[in-house]
Amino acid sequence: MDKAKAKRIAGRWMFPTEKSSYMGGLEDRPVLAASAGRTVTDIDGKEYLDFQSGQMGAALGHQHPRMVAAIEKTMASMMHSTNTMLNVPRLRLHERLGKLMPAGLTKSLFLVSGSDTIEACVDLARKATGGTDVIGFHAGLHGSTSYLTRSLSFNWSRQKHSVVAPATAAILTPYCYRCPLKLTFPKCEVQCLSASLELADANFTDAPAGFIGEPILSAGGVIVPPDGYFAKLQAALKARGMLMIMDEAQTGLGKTGKLFGFQHEKGVKPDILGISKHFGGGLPISAVCATAPVAKAAVKNGYFATRSHATDPLLCAAGEESLNIVVDEDMAGKAARIENRVKGAFRKMAKEFELIGDIRGRGVLLGIEFVTDREKKTPANAQTRKIFDHCLKRGLIFQIRGTRGLQNVIRLVPPMTTTKAELDRALSILYDAVKRAAKAKTRRKR
Ligand SMILES: Cc1ncc(COP(=O)(O)O)c(C=O)c1O
Repeated sequence: MDKAKAKRIAGRWMFPTEKSSYMGGLEDRPVLAASAGRTVTDIDGKEYLDFQSGQMGAALGHQHPRMVAAIEKTMASMMHSTNTMLNVPRLRLHERLGKLMPAGLTKSLFLVSGSDTIEACVDLARKATGGTDVIGFHAGLHGSTSYLTRSLSFNWSRQKHSVVAPATAAILTPYCYRCPLKLTFPKCEVQCLSASLELADANFTDAPAGFIGEPILSAGGVIVPPDGYFAKLQAALKARGMLMIMDEAQTGLGKTGKLFGFQHEKGVKPDILGISKHFGGGLPISAVCATAPVAKAAVKNGYFATRSHATDPLLCAAGEESLNIVVDEDMAGKAARIENRVKGAFRKMAKEFELIGDIRGRGVLLGIEFVTDREKKTPANAQTRKIFDHCLKRGLIFQIRGTRGLQNVIRLVPPMTTTKAELDRALSILYDAVKRAAKAKTRRKR
């Protein structure tokens, strides 16, 4: 297939929404034909380093050989199965995951997508507590199902719907680089949290059920809440009989340098945790994990969640092998080393280019926020776009992100298997791109 044909098919047969993304039309972008390791190849044979890990599902690298072998082996024996009977790969995955999960989150059920898990996590919190109200970060994104997860995606799609799910409300994101209260951490004593809770208490329509959030807000612009924030939040939730739901779609299974993102937060133990994205090593499987008391209380009140393909042997075998790979190949350690290298390179660049306002994230979930001047922190949306365009041309893919309308953060999510040579190549392309985008007059010592 050539580009012209791809464009014709897209124009004639695709739903209009399928031809565009939040970053513009797809018809003029590369049309992908193949992938392997950290590289994707378009129909013209041009190769790109994939620093967005597909749609985050390729954090182990595309077609990890062990994933391919496990999938091929299972395909030959049993791909699909009823969920009204147990099957061996399903049981093996429950056991593997249960033994691996920290913080007593040993009970699991499987679904297909990240949005599925969030729907199911929220329902679980409601059934376990008997409450209904759920709060989440105002820069959060938790999925695209047309009602509940969009309503909880305050940074993205809630606004595009005239009817939102009841008993869902936003709290302020602790985005210290652009504090919504114009305060400075730690002097602020996280007043964003106390103010948010005061408002939430006034908003609750019924008994509150829980909080949902990511340990690092990925789509919101790779925002890392300050030290101690989640511990304070958890104490406040406990005082209200609410449960803490961690959405680890983007932060789980090694990507932040630990097995789960919440493990960076001292003393924090989520009651419920959602896993998706690279859990299937490229295939769609997700999980809801909870502590035994939470699972028991919810089931007593009629809780269940399932999908036709949720317990397929093929997907469960993929889940088990991805967990094995994460552990055996020390993906978390690899992610931590990548973080050091990338952050180090950008810190060096920041001495040269005022355009670099903030460098943040953990492991292989990294964000660089660009500003036209560091004092006022004026978002450099146009320059960020230039950086993206230049990198795409030179063969490096990533996404632009930002909070509530801002598009000035590049989000780098290299697969955890990225080699030193691949990192060096990407960093060299990024250096050239930032240099072009930065105006000479913005050069100043940091
Ligand atoms: C944090 C988070 N939660 C949930 C989802 C939804 O996952 P899915 O697209 O697999 O439904 C996403 C998607 O990007 C996400 O980033």
